[in-house]
Amino acid sequence: MNERETKSNGKARVAILGYGTVGISVAKALQMLGLPSIELSQIFNRDVARKQALPEARFAGFDTVWTGSVDEALGSDATIVVELIGGVDPARDWIRRALTAGKSVVTANKQLIAYHGVELLALAEANGVQLLYGAAVAGGVPVIPGIMQGQSGDRITRISGLLNGTCNYILSRMEAGDRYADVLADAQRLGYAESDPTADVGGFDARAKLCILSRVAMHVELNPDEVGTQTIADVDAVDFAYARELGCTIRQVSRAQREGGGMYARVGPMLVPRESPIAWSHGTQNMVVTTGTLGGDVVFSGHGAGGDATAVAVVSDIVAAAQGSRPVSLPVIVSAIAGALAQVDANIDSLLQRPGYPKHRLAFVVTTEPCRTSTIERAVTEMAKLDCMLARPLALQRLVVDDKDEETA
Ligand code: HSE
Repeated sequence: MNERETKSNGKARVAILGYGTVGISVAKALQMLGLPSIELSQIFNRDVARKQALPEARFAGFDTVWTGSVDEALGSDATIVVELIGGVDPARDWIRRALTAGKSVVTANKQLIAYHGVELLALAEANGVQLLYGAAVAGGVPVIPGIMQGQSGDRITRISGLLNGTCNYILSRMEAGDRYADVLADAQRLGYAESDPTADVGGFDARAKLCILSRVAMHVELNPDEVGTQTIADVDAVDFAYARELGCTIRQVSRAQREGGGMYARVGPMLVPRESPIAWSHGTQNMVVTTGTLGGDVVFSGHGAGGDATAVAVVSDIVAAAQGSRPVSLPVIVSAIAGALAQVDANIDSLLQRPGYPKHRLAFVVTTEPCRTSTIERAVTEMAKLDCMLARPLALQRLVVDDKDEETA
């Protein structure tokens, strides 16, 4: 067991940030499993008294400390922090603080990992701890560990599938004749949908997951904002009637594939032939099909939304963190560069590495969040010292052309 993840009683101590649908299910799963090496030591929630009054508070341990102060939870002797707040801010800052304090982090936060995963993974590596996010994609379906540990021996060229349980639930019930608005309300009531369901139906939830899978499976950094999305809110009963005539049904499909020297990625409703396995999935089912150069197609499927399904992935990551098992790390060069940027407190915004360049002289581009030119110059000096760097990196500033563009170096 990793020395940092144990205390004198030999147990990994877990702090849960956020006692909502998933947090409650995680506590319930930990209680049900009764894992001897894991202790639920802290539960943080803003309105902690209200949470403590819930019947579901019984899933906490006898010794679990309830707190409304995130500083107390992060400053506690917990060795693993489980972030279940969602959204980018303040979750990003809290995770940074936990990693910097030498705590491993488990998160289900897809937006954060899609936008800032590279930076946070580098920070985890620099601090000798782990950042695990299996629950960020496909709930209880072990797609991320499956790809990381089971498909690192292949070159994956395409990912396609159903990455949003709410959309699958809505579209499969509409296929059976139910009305969009009624089914969406049910999905919200059952805890499948995001707090703002536009993220589900508009495709933004699925595209974050698609970007994470592209990173894990194809080592490609996609900017979520550049992935095309189309809402399912415009799909009507009449569309299902015509789809049926064409031998199809309608599903929200997410696809990313290598094309020529670049990448194609998109999320939106599609006509799916009835004989396709994608058409057979109903309810909150997720399905991911990876296509490898050597292994061909591999299919992952199961429940992608809901507290209990998601808790399976969270608890599996807690167990992995407690055992100190290391995920397959970022490619060495990427992690060295990320380390150099972390040293000068520059945050990575995106990382681009396109195929088509000689393998012994790989070219790639890192963009950062806005920062001082002197910060970038210090980072470039550090990077130039790396053995893997064949030439001093070229630093270019980005010209601000309108209010939406941010200056990056
Ligand atoms: N709202 C998400 C979904 C939850 O429906 O898939 C799981 O990420």
